[in-house]
Amino acid sequence: SEKSLKEVVGDKFLMGVALNVRQSSGMDTSALKIVKQHFNAIVAENCMKSEEIQPKEGEFHFEDADRLVQFGLDNGLTVTGHCLIWHSQLPDWFCVDDKGKNVSPEVLKQRMKTHIQTVVGRYKGKIKGWDVVNEAIVEDGSYRKSKFYEILGEEFIPLAFQYAHEADPDAELYYNDYGMDVPGRRDGVVKLVRSLKEKGLRIDAVGMQGHMGMDYPDIRQFEKSMLAFAATGVKVMITEWDMSALPTAMRSANVSDTVAFKKALNPYPEALPDSVSQVWNERMQQFFQLFEKHADIVERVTAWGVTDGDSWKNDFPIRGRKDYPLLFDRNYQPKDFVRKMIEEASDS
Ligand code: G3I
Repeated sequence: SEKSLKEVVGDKFLMGVALNVRQSSGMDTSALKIVKQHFNAIVAENCMKSEEIQPKEGEFHFEDADRLVQFGLDNGLTVTGHCLIWHSQLPDWFCVDDKGKNVSPEVLKQRMKTHIQTVVGRYKGKIKGWDVVNEAIVEDGSYRKSKFYEILGEEFIPLAFQYAHEADPDAELYYNDYGMDVPGRRDGVVKLVRSLKEKGLRIDAVGMQGHMGMDYPDIRQFEKSMLAFAATGVKVMITEWDMSALPTAMRSANVSDTVAFKKALNPYPEALPDSVSQVWNERMQQFFQLFEKHADIVERVTAWGVTDGDSWKNDFPIRGRKDYPLLFDRNYQPKDFVRKMIEEASDS
């Protein structure tokens, strides 16, 4: 009989997927069918971010997150929390006062502590692990000059890990970032993981987001980073996997000509040409094989959305373009490379 994706992967690693609010609220039943059939891990695409879950100080909105966690528990899926401390999707009140002035280090620490402990505490024992800090290291390996960094310096990261651990000592804790193939960032993240470990703090894995394109990242550089992170003694996770099928047009488009610009950014509004689709599928398969090759260090691979229609890539960098970055198409059908893997595994 025909296998599912999670059966193909077997016990190599968890096969995860990010759910949007339409999905976690049960509205998108076709997508949920795919989730239950093919995946064994879920993560919230947006509803656990600080702006969503604590839009005003002390005002927590748990409804969407509660539903997502319950869906996971009901269906035996591993649930990951995303994310506790991130400079983006961060409500203004968190780091600045009414006049736009940075709050004091003491106030920010208290707010981080309350935020983290309230959110982590609510799902204690239900969520396997948390993306504790997201996107804090830039390409040259230094710290991103975020509000957290401005106010607390490097210390905000160990503090976040400490607060999360206090709230749920059994939960796994992750550092998550993008562009992890870049050597400078790789080194910066390795340094960060080592320093957390030296402080005696818990860190279980490094999450490599894995937002890819047809010409980036270089697969060898990506592999090098996987190995470098694993060498620090943590697991590796591919946390936000997708691959834009569109050319990297930002660099070449003439931005002053809006029509040409939009066309360059949305070159396949009807369908992806077969020739492009073939290259895309081959490249996805290569990365998948890389993850399988390193199954001893890869703990989970998570697609950043269920179908192409759900992807954030359709709105980035401009709204309303049409991209084809995920494992299932807009008709809820598996992409060729997924179908092929399933067929091969089902034969054997
Ligand atoms: O909440 C409003 C909603 O009320 C409104 O109807 C809608 C229409 O404009 O906008 C909604 O918010 C949007 C939200 O997605 C939900 O659709 C935000 O404007 C939009 O910025 C947000 O984008 C998300 C983005 O993170 C920023 O938080 C993407 O869906 C999500 O895929 C993306 O995910 C991030 C990871 O968390 C971290 N790594 C990078 C990755 C891609 O940017």
